[in-house]
Amino acid sequence: MEESTPSRTALRVALRRAAHQLYDLPVVFDDPMAVPILGKAYDEELRRTPRRADRPFSISLRAFLVVRSRYAEDNLKRAVAAGVRQYVLLGAGLDTFAHRNATPQLRVFEVDHPNTQAWKRELLERNGIATPAGLTYVPVDFESQSLAERLQASGFDRNVPAFFAWLGVVPYLTLPAFRATRQFIEGQAAGSGVVFDYARPRATLPPLEQLAYDSLASRVQSAGEPFQLAFTVEEIATELSGFRSVEDIGSVEMNARYFQGRTDQLAVRGTAGRVVCAWL
Ligand SMILES: C[S@@+](CC[C@H](N)C(=O)[O-])C[C@H]1O[C@@H](n2cnc3c(N)ncnc32)[C@H](O)[C@@H]1O
Repeated sequence: MEESTPSRTALRVALRRAAHQLYDLPVVFDDPMAVPILGKAYDEELRRTPRRADRPFSISLRAFLVVRSRYAEDNLKRAVAAGVRQYVLLGAGLDTFAHRNATPQLRVFEVDHPNTQAWKRELLERNGIATPAGLTYVPVDFESQSLAERLQASGFDRNVPAFFAWLGVVPYLTLPAFRATRQFIEGQAAGSGVVFDYARPRATLPPLEQLAYDSLASRVQSAGEPFQLAFTVEEIATELSGFRSVEDIGSVEMNARYFQGRTDQLAVRGTAGRVVCAWL
């Protein structure tokens, strides 16, 4: 990320979650705060979001972005049912879970780059959305600051289980930053879990998907947030060998689980993006 600006990719993702609420009915990811958090300032951009099936790459990207949030919150529900009472959003962006949290005992920690977090808080204030009880903001730069120290100073308890969502962040990190955070999660209490998404390496993709990848890579690069990290399925399995169980799903599983029977074109295409849930 550029040092002085909030994450522009966080805005792009939030715009797609909001567009999903307006244009993809029935929704796969129900987020009644997705439109209000953006407010009037982004009305025009939201209206320009492609809706039509003749933009298959764009529709597929939106499907991927909403399904990873749905998958994270489905697994969060499992964690909460098993007694987990801490939810940590790593690179929270404009995620609105804290504002929809129906479990008062569940504490939510939003960890993000200080610039992105300051921008989010400004947006919330401007749009009249109050900070909910049970939400703690934790500004951290994963590349240069200690997540463990910052979380601990914010009241996070390492001795009891926690669930982590790390959505849309891993592709932008360096390998050492990825491993530092993964090791931190690995050191949590038994019963903890994490959901994150990752990209497969460009060279392993079929030619048409390489073109789609190049187009997305050049857009995030010009937003100042270049892709830096990709893994094969085998590499991710090795990275996560310290976890008790790992589920790693691609478009086939996502479509079977979440997009069956739709009459629109909303579905995840291709093999580039995958989502993982790992438990300790
Ligand atoms: C694509 S956005 C995803 C946001 C959110 N998780 C979502 O799904 O809407 C990437 C997020 O990662 C955060 N991020 C990227 N690099 C970071 C870093 N070095 N330290 C902290 N946060 C970082 C950005 O601030 C941004 O919120």
